[in-house]
Amino acid sequence: MLNAVADLKIELVEVCEAAARACAPHVGSGKKDEGDGLAVDAMRARINQVPMNGMIVIGEGAKDEAPALYDGEKVGTGEGIGVDIAVDPIEGTNLFAKDMPGSIVTLAAAPAGTMYRPGSCFYMDKQVYPKAARGKIDPQAPVADRLEALAKALGKKVSEIKVFILDKPRHKGLIQEVYAAGAKVRLATDGDVNGAIQAVLNMGSDALFGIGGTPEGIVTACAARAMGAEMFGRMAPQKDFEIELCKKEGVDTKRIIERDELVTSDDCLFIATGLTSGAYVHHVKVGQDAYGRHKTTDTIVLDGGIGNIRRVQTTVHV
Ligand code: FBP
Repeated sequence: MLNAVADLKIELVEVCEAAARACAPHVGSGKKDEGDGLAVDAMRARINQVPMNGMIVIGEGAKDEAPALYDGEKVGTGEGIGVDIAVDPIEGTNLFAKDMPGSIVTLAAAPAGTMYRPGSCFYMDKQVYPKAARGKIDPQAPVADRLEALAKALGKKVSEIKVFILDKPRHKGLIQEVYAAGAKVRLATDGDVNGAIQAVLNMGSDALFGIGGTPEGIVTACAARAMGAEMFGRMAPQKDFEIELCKKEGVDTKRIIERDELVTSDDCLFIATGLTSGAYVHHVKVGQDAYGRHKTTDTIVLDGGIGNIRRVQTTVHV
């Protein structure tokens, strides 16, 4: 009998792999919804074979009206432990459509009732830092002070710190503040989970700052907690209808939400399978051998149960 979410890791890796194999032929097609639909269908088919009583608590679709696994959707065989699931079948759909670096299939899992429910807030302001900085950053401090504290924690100069920020008009001021403090910025048009994982693993970036999707924020919190890294969130509604809904729901847009409120259990998993090339996972590779055509996927698993990083490369004949 499986009694920890971490015990489901290989099953859940296969969910992400199936989604990646299904949508990979559409990388670089210029179309994002077709690939997204295939990833969602493959994910749904495989996740419903996983021996768990799962529920999608953070799906996607509402923000962009894209194909989705829906919030509240029951997944798994219905037997076994209760599991909260957060998914993004294609994180970085534009990157996927344009074959630009950083698109991944991603899923996070934690015991039932342990993931934060953001209500109607689709955007979250995020700060993510590597483990060495945990407990050493005041999330309310000015950007320059945070960068100084981060540099000290990492044993670097501020000029050696690189912050991943989505290249969006809303971040113009934030980017200028980082430059003014003397640090560097890694800009990307999309994919803040990718940026956050770079910070969590301290591979490519030292921190992630800025406003991105709330589903991506919860997935990121599982990665941060699994690796003992630091994260802070703050609800930051952007769209008019969202601002209205958040007001009605009494969402406090000033309150800093700590990592351990975003996910309240150490028994959490973060899984990402590469769709396009990336800092920590490769794209899906298609090959041919004596047994026929095959697809090879590259996946990373951050496991809070034992705090380790697992890399899984799988070749499946298709
Ligand atoms: P999609 O995978 O849904 O396309 O999201 C890409 C992304 O860049 C996320 O990484 C980020 O959290 C969010 O969009 C930001 O939203 P927006 O592009 O609306 O500012």
